[in-house]
Amino acid sequence: EEEQQKHWFVGSIDQGTTSSRFLIFNGEGEPVASHQIEFENLYPKSGWHEHEPLELLKSVEDCIDGAMKKFAELGYSKDNIRSIGITNQRETTVVWDRNTGEPLYNAVVWPDTRTNSLVRELKSRPEAGKLMDLCGLPLSTYPSSVKLLWLIDNVEAVKRAYEERRLAFGTVDSWLIYRLNGGAKAKKPIHVTDSTNASRTMFMNLRTLQYDETLLKFFGIDRTKVQLPRIVPSSDPECFGKVSYGSLSGIPIAGCLGDQSSALVGQCGFSPGQAKNTYGTGCFLLYNVGTEPVISKYGLLATVAYDFGHGRAPVYALEGSIAVAGSGVKFLMKNMGFIEESSEINTLAESVPDNGGVVFVTAFSGLFAPYWIDDAKGTLFGVTQHTQKGHIARATLEATCYQTKAILDAMEKDSKHKLESLAVDGGLSSSDLCMQTQADITGIRVDRPKMRETTALGAAIAAGLATGVWKELNDLKEVNSAGRKVFEPKMGTKEARRLFRKWEQAVEMSRGWLRA
Ligand code: G3P
Repeated sequence: EEEQQKHWFVGSIDQGTTSSRFLIFNGEGEPVASHQIEFENLYPKSGWHEHEPLELLKSVEDCIDGAMKKFAELGYSKDNIRSIGITNQRETTVVWDRNTGEPLYNAVVWPDTRTNSLVRELKSRPEAGKLMDLCGLPLSTYPSSVKLLWLIDNVEAVKRAYEERRLAFGTVDSWLIYRLNGGAKAKKPIHVTDSTNASRTMFMNLRTLQYDETLLKFFGIDRTKVQLPRIVPSSDPECFGKVSYGSLSGIPIAGCLGDQSSALVGQCGFSPGQAKNTYGTGCFLLYNVGTEPVISKYGLLATVAYDFGHGRAPVYALEGSIAVAGSGVKFLMKNMGFIEESSEINTLAESVPDNGGVVFVTAFSGLFAPYWIDDAKGTLFGVTQHTQKGHIARATLEATCYQTKAILDAMEKDSKHKLESLAVDGGLSSSDLCMQTQADITGIRVDRPKMRETTALGAAIAAGLATGVWKELNDLKEVNSAGRKVFEPKMGTKEARRLFRKWEQAVEMSRGWLRA
């Protein structure tokens, strides 16, 4: 069997906010073939952010075909793929018709703030204060629950489907799994989600890992009118079904994790006290707290880190979520025309020695952790005749670093433990300047792996564990350990503190813009 195992590979679909990818990993956790496609992000109104569900699906299908072609060129075929995993942007809400399998509206994407006034109303209810202890999340525009509520209240087709009991709800994982299994045409349509994704909806009880009546009642969700996905573990050989068409037809889907959970798994953050920070479209710090959830008192989220099932206890994390990281760079590129490629941000930032006194609170979707200011708006401070594009570029990168510092401070208070080193990944982590700034501002070591496809690797690990590619977590010890680069803090603590105080002042001043 060992001989055979050498030729086993695991595929991983990574469906993110700006692009989809499909990667194929070998048993050492190294990617051997991949394909990536960027798709369109729609911003129909200020604060609105949508994706077309069918375009997401098509981008995934095309990535699979593209990577499988490259895999074939290496002399392999579908028969070498033991199983695939799925990892995805979380919270993003898809609604479809159970009878036809077709979407009823565009997906409402996680940073969307159209639910701002709805959230204000929900927060004013007396029971609002009890939710966090059940689901680990504060009420904000971020989770899926408020997005679904908005869709039922405001979109005629969704409302009608709800009344006629043919509405199906899902996060992106559910949607993809459903359609890859054949959708409504499948003999037995598969409508599931894993507990990491479900922990972002605000409908799931963090301890039972099942839907919670109190939560559903608070949001007024009648389960007889909307089909919610069945919650299953993140790693399982059967419950996610099989790809029913295309170049992976017949291959089991055996792993599923929200992308931030997946990155923690891909960094092998399996022990309590380990943490990772992923600089993608947004930036998300997950800190493994072990097998009991910790409900934050300082503005963090409690979430399921991973749930490998089969007798293994689920593992929880404290999470600090930052809405804008890479999307800040995209903003400078697409809206302001400062650069033509994201990677040019470094050269632009390095064109000046420091931020020249500019602070940019990139609150395009309000501010998430640890502040949770829904009505903050992006605000630029300290602009003078001296200000160059480079200063604004620096301030954009620094905004993510400052928020990470605020999250680490909150994490220290919640966990009573000081982090010594932070494992990083995601697009912006490739910027040495950004990572050095991160080390300087937080005063802790930043540790970057050479292979930074950790998000995709996590879902492959979940799938591989379910299908015998790896038998236990111990088998993964060597995975992704080679060639790490460490950034040591170089800035004096006094200067770091001064800069951070300025940031905190700027945050306060970006508050309440809508009401002013
Ligand atoms: O919570 C949203 C998160 O899952 C999106 O991740 O990588 O697209 O920023 P990313």
